[in-house]
Amino acid sequence: MRRLILPLIFTATLCAAQAPVSTIAPTLVPTPPMGWNSWNHFAGKVTQKDVMDAADALVSSGMRDAGYVYVNIDDTWEGQRDATGMLRANDKFPDMKALGDAIHARGLKFGIYSSPGPRTCANFAASYGYEQKDADLYASWGVDYLKYDLCSFRTLMQAGAADHPTDPDYANQMMIDSYAKMRRALDKTGRPIVLSLCQYGVDDVWKWGASVGGNLWRTTGDIRDSYDSMAKIGFGQPGLAPYAGPGHWNDPDMLEVGNGHMTADEYRTHMSLWAILAAPLLAGNDLSKMTPETESILMNKAVIAVDQDPLGKQGDRVKQDGDLEVWSKPLSGSAVAVGVFNRSKSDASMTLKLSDVSMASASKITDLWTGKPVTAKDGQITATVPMHGVLMLRIEP
Ligand code: GLA
Repeated sequence: MRRLILPLIFTATLCAAQAPVSTIAPTLVPTPPMGWNSWNHFAGKVTQKDVMDAADALVSSGMRDAGYVYVNIDDTWEGQRDATGMLRANDKFPDMKALGDAIHARGLKFGIYSSPGPRTCANFAASYGYEQKDADLYASWGVDYLKYDLCSFRTLMQAGAADHPTDPDYANQMMIDSYAKMRRALDKTGRPIVLSLCQYGVDDVWKWGASVGGNLWRTTGDIRDSYDSMAKIGFGQPGLAPYAGPGHWNDPDMLEVGNGHMTADEYRTHMSLWAILAAPLLAGNDLSKMTPETESILMNKAVIAVDQDPLGKQGDRVKQDGDLEVWSKPLSGSAVAVGVFNRSKSDASMTLKLSDVSMASASKITDLWTGKPVTAKDGQITATVPMHGVLMLRIEP
């Protein structure tokens, strides 16, 4: 764990380094968080009604019962601070407490968004200098989840670096401290609040995110609703598996499934890969207007079970041959989930050897997108995988 800089004397720093930043954080999200976030579809236009509609749709579509419980408002809910420094929501969100209550009444959880800097990415008021005030406010609204997005804090880091030219770690340490500070503020409210670190992977966040009480941390820049963006992010995660586990997850960003600019095969690739990565599954589409196909992708119970497997191990790439990749994820009961991915622009015949995924034999193999049994012949499976598509299997020992 990195040393936590405190504006105190050296002994105090030592004491702080020994005490964990948070005893609450490791008890939260034993499996990757699932829910919905407003940004990918609604971005800056999101209103209280959109969020309520999403909460209703989570219930009526069956998504809540499939595990999607967090209803997370992203950027642009923030208004002005009053004379006491208390932040108000803006006119798009007339009553945050009522919204939180309505979300909870539906058996869902309430998420919100801020930045450790003075402004959010969309230039709304953020938490710098008001960390405890904001944490207390969130708790009073019943907030269960905070996405904390670096944004304007980077300007402070640049100034810090300029003031400390002989300390190359200074700016990154400021960032680390800013996340620890918010975790302490959240914990002080007495409410268990999930902390999502959003800083796009700066300074290998996976190496220190858990030590500051982060429950998940973005490993990349922003996803867009295109195959190229999704594939660049999703297939760019090799090597990060050792850093994830119950209570602390790598976050390759939110889902784009159902937003309209990928094919069904591409969205199945997106969902399969995120499940193998034990990624948070935060739907980012308009839930009130889902096609049956979108619903079938987001609510495939067997694929969700891969993501939510209680072993809590992230998968990794085990084989690559040009555009053809095999990824696998260890599951409880010595089973394994396998994604056989075709990243090329034409359909491909692909062969998976059980030995590729360290299985000597298989008692049962299931294709998780068709639900049908698959038979291995001579220890291997051959199938045609569509362009940008996936064959996703669950293999029992
Ligand atoms: C950043 C984040 C996005 C979103 C926007 C909101 O770009 O990475 O996920 O929260 O800010 O302004």
